[in-house]
Amino acid sequence: MQIGILTGGGDAPGLNAAIRAVARCALAAGDTVVGVRNGWAGLTGDGDLVPLKRSDFSGILQLGGTIMGSSRVNPMKRDGGLDECLGNLRRAGLDALVAIGGDDTLGVASWLAEQGAPLIGVPKTMDNDLSVTEYCIGFDSAVSIVTEALDRLHTTAASHHRVMVVEVMGRDTGWVAVMGGLAGGADMILIPEFPIRLDDVVEHLDRRGFQGSDFSIIVVAEGVTMDGVTASDDGSATDAFGHVQLSKRGVGERLAGMIEARTGHETRTTVLGYTQRGGTPTAYDRIWATRVGAAAYTLAAEGRWGMMPVVRCGAVEVSTIDDVVSEQRRVPAELYELARVFF
Ligand code: F6P
Repeated sequence: MQIGILTGGGDAPGLNAAIRAVARCALAAGDTVVGVRNGWAGLTGDGDLVPLKRSDFSGILQLGGTIMGSSRVNPMKRDGGLDECLGNLRRAGLDALVAIGGDDTLGVASWLAEQGAPLIGVPKTMDNDLSVTEYCIGFDSAVSIVTEALDRLHTTAASHHRVMVVEVMGRDTGWVAVMGGLAGGADMILIPEFPIRLDDVVEHLDRRGFQGSDFSIIVVAEGVTMDGVTASDDGSATDAFGHVQLSKRGVGERLAGMIEARTGHETRTTVLGYTQRGGTPTAYDRIWATRVGAAAYTLAAEGRWGMMPVVRCGAVEVSTIDDVVSEQRRVPAELYELARVFF
């Protein structure tokens, strides 16, 4: 079999571990491996595919990013995009293609599988918002980075008696914020799933002051909307999949300005941004990316197109790609209630 590997959407620590797992399983079975460069961009136009050999996968387990490159190119939005993808798959002689990505990349994979293309998916997104699966490549590394950042920010917050607003990624869900905030001891966590008012933030900070706390760390997810802080239509740019580029809205900076104006507390903002997706993967991400990567190879060898490995109750299971992208997984109330105990 000739098997292709593609990574799409935002890069995330653990992608290379998954690529390596797919490739090493393939090579062990006597298959050949082809890399599709830069996500779906590599399957559109004239195509950009490259044959890979064993040495290409050496030393990449601990590397962040993706050796295949990535992009947010969306073939579903291109005239003739479907024919371009199917034509490139055929010309490259690919018997299978493993697409590693989040809802956008997997949405395209599912669409191609419906047209009869030999697609297998792998769950990846630091946002952790895919349905069905409890594990997405990159989330654990992102949470670890947020946790370490909060530990470091605590020292300045305490020494200078400041309010520190920390903006984290996560798109329209609050997984990174709530898990990072829990692990890093945040004094308040604001996430899109459970909106609160600016008045509530101010009251909370006043209450903390009365209780003797002279500093606070507030984690805010980039996708939070709040009356008086974010505009309902701020004209932010969207990407090829129609997502607003949330980092450009600057919710953290806006919130910090309002807090300072309303409370008089000296307030600073830190936007963790792309550091959350950068650098070396945690051991957890390396191990699970390896497990789902190897499972994806098995699905390809069995010709189970349109399927993908997921993690449920600590074990690798199989789902349709369609089910995984069918809805966004959001932070449940019980997890947010737990975080609120420490506010
Ligand atoms: O989906 C992953 C993610 O990092 C989101 O958390 C963030 O909103 C988005 O990607 C940023 O996208 P881009 O890399 O296109 O700026």
